[in-house]
This record gives sequence, structure tokens and C-alpha cells, in this order.
Amino acid sequence: MLPDTYYHGKRILITGGLGFVGSNLAIRLVQSGAEVTIVDSMIPNHGGNLRNIEKIETAVRVNYSDIRDHHSLKYLIRGQEIVFSLAGQVSHIDSMQDPFNDLEINCTSQLSLLENIRKVNPEAKVVFASTRQIYGRPQYLPVDEKHPLHPVDVNGINKISGEYYYKLYNDVYGIRTVSLRLTNSYGPRQDIRNRNLGFVGIFIRQAITGETIRVFGDGLQCRDFNYIDDVVDAFLQAGCDDACVGNSYNLGDHRHYSLIEFLKCLQQFVPLCYEVVPFPSEKKAIDIGDFYSSYELFHSVTGWEPKIALPDGLSQTVRFFQNNLHYYE
Ligand SMILES: NC(=O)c1ccc[n+]([C@@H]2O[C@H](COP(=O)([O-])OP(=O)(O)OC[C@H]3O[C@@H](n4cnc5c(N)ncnc54)[C@H](O)[C@@H]3O)[C@@H](O)[C@H]2O)c1
Repeated sequence: MLPDTYYHGKRILITGGLGFVGSNLAIRLVQSGAEVTIVDSMIPNHGGNLRNIEKIETAVRVNYSDIRDHHSLKYLIRGQEIVFSLAGQVSHIDSMQDPFNDLEINCTSQLSLLENIRKVNPEAKVVFASTRQIYGRPQYLPVDEKHPLHPVDVNGINKISGEYYYKLYNDVYGIRTVSLRLTNSYGPRQDIRNRNLGFVGIFIRQAITGETIRVFGDGLQCRDFNYIDDVVDAFLQAGCDDACVGNSYNLGDHRHYSLIEFLKCLQQFVPLCYEVVPFPSEKKAIDIGDFYSSYELFHSVTGWEPKIALPDGLSQTVRFFQNNLHYYE
């Protein structure tokens, strides 16, 4: 069944729904006729932004609570049919500076969510947003799901633990769970303010505001990218297709780009200047070198594949932020 038809009338909870991925997912679900509840704590310096849901604000229920609050979670998941677990501490640098905060949000709270689902709503299905960072520095490319997990930072360790809890609750309690390991996702509504996040948002903001972009290393390190509409499609597919239950899947793209190639692509849509500079030590310590992943497994199970090429996605992203910069600075 097409995901958009499947979600009509479904009761959906999105944790982290005021952030980048969560708000784009909420917009698509509302357009599909789903009943959407968002839970988000709007912690400062995370990606939550009320502007993100401006066009659906009267069509969604927003609950401003923290997923670390075990008791409000119990209330929020009652009656929900699908839970998209997207609330997260997303900065790798911050996970090294405040590891217990990352542990609470990315690991302990995931266990708490699962315990509540087990006790009050075991029929609910859960899709968890994991990350490619759990693989660490690749031993081979493209990285598939058989690749060893050797995270290079606290965030990667906590995300693995989160994933393992989802798998365990599926295997032991029969709760239907799926984890998607996101690679660099980009697009409208992403957090471009936070300097401790990945390079994509930073490069886009610096290009649009006319700052000189600083590329660390030699700029030849490779990455793959998914435009947000493709990421949302993947979440919708994972939520509606029970064939993928009980597993973790990479997202990814057909092709990869060096950071310099990424900038050259961005330059087609906004004038920019950049300089190549040595890595700051705290970033070098957790850098993963070249990375791109294989999404073949998820494709074979669900048919999902990315449709938006980087130039098209960047063109739409630049246009969005040029028109809305005020709300995202
Ligand atoms: N965007 C990417 O490229 C990417 C890559 C890998 C993994 N992910 C994962 O996808 C998920 C969504 O990422 P995003 O890019 O939308 O991030 P984001 O920062 O834009 O959104 C996260 C949202 O979670 C909320 N949140 C954080 N802690 C919370 C808490 N304790 N209680 C309630 N809400 C809380 C924030 O306020 C924010 O609105 C995250 O779990 C992240 O680890 C994203």
C-alpha cells in the first residue's frame, strides 16, 4: 500500500517533532490525513523551531514535554498506532562535552519509551532514528549493515544502545520496531544555527550569509547525502511496512561527493567562498574520514530509494533558507 494512503486517519506520535526531520515528517503525515501529536522539549541549542510547523500548527497537537519524563511519556503513547522516535541529542561534539546528557536522551529515554509501550500500548509500532555514526571509521565502502560497529564518540555508543533496546523489545516482547540509520540529511527546516552540528547546515548558512566557509582537512573526504523528502519517505515506508520490522537499515544515496564537490554543487545556487584549513583537534578526534553507505538492504525489503539528486535538493534548500533566514539564524 502507498504510505500516504496507509496513514489516513492513523494516530501518530512524533517525538522531536519540532526539529528538522520530525517537522517535515509531521507535515507529510498531516497532508496524508493522519492525526499527529508532537512531543518536543524545545531544549535550547537543539533543532526545535516553532516556525517548522507554521503551516500545520492548527492541525497538530503539540505537547511540550521532555522524553526523559517517564510519566508524561506513558500518557502520550496511550492510543497511538505508530510512534516515530526522533527526539535526540544530535551533536557529536556536545556528546563528548556532556556525555550524560546524551546518555539520558539517546539511550535511557529510549528504554523508557519502550517500557511504557510494553506496559500501556504494546500494539504500537515504533520507528527509531539511528545514525551512520555508529559504524565509526569505515573498514570498507560502501558501508552496509554487516560492517562492524566501532563508534568514535559518545553519541554513537548511545545510539547503538538505543537501537539494541528496540531490537530486544521486538525479539522478546513482540513490539514492532524498526531502526533507520540516517546519513547526512539536509533540506528545509534543518538546524543551520548550531556550530556544533555537522558541516552541511553550517556550510549552507555560511554560504547564504556570505561568510567564508572553512573546510577542515583537505576537503577530499567523501560523504553521501539524503534530501529530507527522501528521508521522510523512508520513515513512512518503515512505519507502514511490517516486512522491515525487527531490523536496522541504512539510508544512503546512489552517489557520494567530496566536501569540495559538495561546495561546488552548492555554488550553483548561491555565491560562496571557502578556505581549506587544518582540523581543530576536538573535531579531528571524532572524524570518520570517508563515509558512504549502502541502502541496498532497505531497498530490497521496502523498495525505498532516494529520488532527489543533490543539485535539486540543494537548490530547494537554498531557496527555502533565503526566504526564511530570519527564522533560522
Ligand atoms: N539530520 C541528520 O542528518 C541525522 C543524521 C543521523 C541521525 N539523525 C537522527 O534523527 C533524529 C532527528 O534529527 P534532526 O536532524 O531532526 O535533529 P533536530 O535537532 O532538528 O531535532 C531533534 C528534536 O528533538 C528535540 N529534543 C531533543 N531532546 C529532547 C528531549 N529530551 N525531549 C523531547 N524533545 C527533545 C529537539 O528539541 C528537536 O526539536 C535524531 O534522533 C538524530 O540523532 C539525524
